[in-house]
Amino acid sequence: MTKRRPLIAGNWKMHLDVASAAALAREVANKVSRARHCDIAVMPPHPLIPAVARVLDGSPIGYGAQDISAEEEGAFTGEVSARMLLSLGCTYAIVGHSERREYHLESDVLVHAKTVMALKAGLIPVVCVGEKLAERKAEKTLHRIRTQVETALKGLDDSVGRVVLAYEPIWAIGTGLTATPAQAEEVHEFIRGVVDSMYGAQVAEKIRILYGGSVKPDNASALMSEKDVDGALVGGASLTAESFAGIVNYGD
Ligand code: PGA
Repeated sequence: MTKRRPLIAGNWKMHLDVASAAALAREVANKVSRARHCDIAVMPPHPLIPAVARVLDGSPIGYGAQDISAEEEGAFTGEVSARMLLSLGCTYAIVGHSERREYHLESDVLVHAKTVMALKAGLIPVVCVGEKLAERKAEKTLHRIRTQVETALKGLDDSVGRVVLAYEPIWAIGTGLTATPAQAEEVHEFIRGVVDSMYGAQVAEKIRILYGGSVKPDNASALMSEKDVDGALVGGASLTAESFAGIVNYGD
């Protein structure tokens, strides 16, 4: 079985400014640069990426964007292209975060187009999927997840192995409610099965599936001990270097 290298990624959402983002990046670098057991990345808001890049370039910590346009270039006011992100040194782009889906009406089909664009450009898409509380209560979680994963990953070429998936139950994001390790594992295992049915066992074993939703230093280790949990996408707790480092060092 392939041993998947964990990825711990911080989603800074719409927080900070140039100075505070650079300071946070510096503190994160000081605290976690020696970690060798996992890949580490931060996702600042687009305008703050250059300041963060200046701090992190040359360090083992990667960075990326929180969103990407599905279009290559052109008259798309407010959009940010894959090429722009690459020219800033980004490695990753979050795609289909639930806040984009909910507040910006991003559909499964748009999330697929963004995934294709990220892969084509050479970025690693971190594709988010997750169910609402009402869907979980109605026992529609796995159905919803299957649709999201199948649509996002439809018809990809060999680059599919570079995709990172993130299971983020919407009811757990920013609420302090975390999925139990068993709840997370059930969905992660299911997602790996969906990938297997689409692209075969080799791809399914390789693809990393992160968990996101109120990950904190005190629950990271239990979540990470599940066999199909390959890392974390961290919102609130990535905004201080101390708590982010506490998650990165989940094994200590
Ligand atoms: P949270 O956010 O850790 O604050 O719940 C996670 C996310 O939205 O990626």
